[in-house]
Amino acid sequence: MAGQTMIGVIGGSGIYDIDGLEDAAWRAVQSPWGSPSDEILTGTLGGVPMAFLPRHGRGHVHSPSSVPYRANIDALKRLGVTDVISVSACGSFREEMAPGHFVVVDQFIDRTFAREKSFFGEGCVAHVSVAHPTCPRLGEACFTAAQDAGITVHNGGTYLAMEGPQFSTLAESKMYRDSWGADVIGMTNMPEAKLAREAELCYASIAMVTDYDSWHPDHGEVDVTEIVKILTGNADKGREMVRRLPTLLGTDREACPHGCDRALEFALLTAPD
Ligand code: ADE
Repeated sequence: MAGQTMIGVIGGSGIYDIDGLEDAAWRAVQSPWGSPSDEILTGTLGGVPMAFLPRHGRGHVHSPSSVPYRANIDALKRLGVTDVISVSACGSFREEMAPGHFVVVDQFIDRTFAREKSFFGEGCVAHVSVAHPTCPRLGEACFTAAQDAGITVHNGGTYLAMEGPQFSTLAESKMYRDSWGADVIGMTNMPEAKLAREAELCYASIAMVTDYDSWHPDHGEVDVTEIVKILTGNADKGREMVRRLPTLLGTDREACPHGCDRALEFALLTAPD
């Protein structure tokens, strides 16, 4: 639907605020789906309203399995967010997607199993399509913003979402890479992307490569100290990318050309009262 753009950024490890936000304030947002991961930082950037939610909470208190994904997406929707940009860390299955690079993810393989995955269920049944789980318009804006920020960025990639919190075994890592064709791996983008679609929000994911998971013969096992080092070294670039998004997306918003904002039009099965 046409209207005003509001950009919501869900920040993962490494990004904990938005630089240069005007009228910045942390706001507690209530949701019937529980409490979001934290308060939400709101303000404007280049005249465009923005909302920032730290996915793991300030102080990194939520594990990937305990992030309240439904409350997070619902709270952003309640604030008026139209476009959700997920920023997160990932491992890479591709030589050319090296640590320090960013990947604009456009497909997912969802291997998570211990999370609430839908707003629908008892009493109200809906089946939305997630064949194309990200918004191409928003993904393109992320790609351009990353390029403009001087980041080495790959346009497109399949993200395998795993439950964690342990990293993959060597056999799993090889299977995801060689048989399943995944490009990157992480623990947080699902069910986030599915819930954004159910909430009729445009969603794009930018994943920062921090390691080669465990498949690469010239690299050792995944090591959190190394991951944090790469994330810290990339945080400024990530923030610079986010700062460029308002100019690219603009204040006025037309209906999403890909229909993300109308996802429920043909998805609800429960008859109205
Ligand atoms: N996040 C960063 N690196 C990861 C990896 N190798 N596997 C899962 N999640 C990750």
